[in-house]
Amino acid sequence: MENLSGKVALVTGNSQGIGPYISRTLAREGVTIVGVARTEEGLNRTKEEIESEGGICHSISFDLMQIDRLSELVGQAQSLAGDIDILVNNAGIEIYNYYQNNGAEELSSILKINLHAPMELTRLLLPAMLDRGGYIVNLASLAGKKGMGYNSIYSASKAGMIMWTDGLRQELRGTKVGISVICPGYIDTAGMFAGSHVKAPLLLGTSSPQDVADAVLKAIQQGKAEIIVNKGPIKPLLAIGQITPRFGDTVVRWFGVPKLSRKRAEGNR
Ligand SMILES: NC(=O)c1ccc[n+]([C@@H]2O[C@H](COP(=O)([O-])OP(=O)(O)OC[C@H]3O[C@@H](n4cnc5c(N)ncnc54)[C@H](OP(=O)(O)O)[C@@H]3O)[C@@H](O)[C@H]2O)c1
Repeated sequence: MENLSGKVALVTGNSQGIGPYISRTLAREGVTIVGVARTEEGLNRTKEEIESEGGICHSISFDLMQIDRLSELVGQAQSLAGDIDILVNNAGIEIYNYYQNNGAEELSSILKINLHAPMELTRLLLPAMLDRGGYIVNLASLAGKKGMGYNSIYSASKAGMIMWTDGLRQELRGTKVGISVICPGYIDTAGMFAGSHVKAPLLLGTSSPQDVADAVLKAIQQGKAEIIVNKGPIKPLLAIGQITPRFGDTVVRWFGVPKLSRKRAEGNR
């Protein structure tokens, strides 16, 4: 999708973190934003930021846990802004904990917000997109490329998102709809990692929320299958991990990822 001007994008997670960066970046290309999250204050802040730059942003306060009511959300978005051309499944949650210490509700909420809601929103929007054209961008994570101890439910949800996107991309070949998955590593200055106030392992480093937003724009404009947002040569290491998972474990241990994740589980952040 090369020219985005006049398109309408539904962006989930638009109240804080990376979502507002994505929305502002799309709005600068002339895209009308329909932002979704629960917190009205954050939604209003993003709307004001976009409007102060001359963009258009509508907001809907909605809890994505209500999977059965997502069709109402879609209806509301369409009545505010018209047909949805772009869906950005950005909202996500993570909970660092020893696996056995997670409650059943935590397990189900991570899977619902990170995987089920994006899949259902896509299912609802896809028929119209197949007629008119459209684009879907899914925000996954490097944690979906290599499992993450103390955050394995999140890893499972993001791995699911990556594989679902991969399958659907093949199914959509030759149609008017494109789909991409974005896999960020640790993101500084805004978002769930920045909010934890811990330092990223030196060897992995951090990227900025604007790097993620730029990747979303590039994915839509160039029809990219997958974009990894991380400094350094992570792709060869991920490939090695596929060939020999135990060596992959050793590499992430060298990087200090399990140690950092355990610290976050013990501090619950
Ligand atoms: N930050 C990172 O380092 C990083 C790295 C890799 C991948 N990612 C991925 O990037 C995406 C954005 O993450 P972020 O760092 O921006 O997270 P964040 O700062 O925690 O923001 C999450 C957003 O999702 C919304 N959300 C959460 N639960 C919701 C619910 N039940 N209903 C509706 N909206 C809900 C939040 O809004 P309300 O609370 O107002 O509802 C918020 O706008 C996620 O998918 C995350 O997994 C982030």
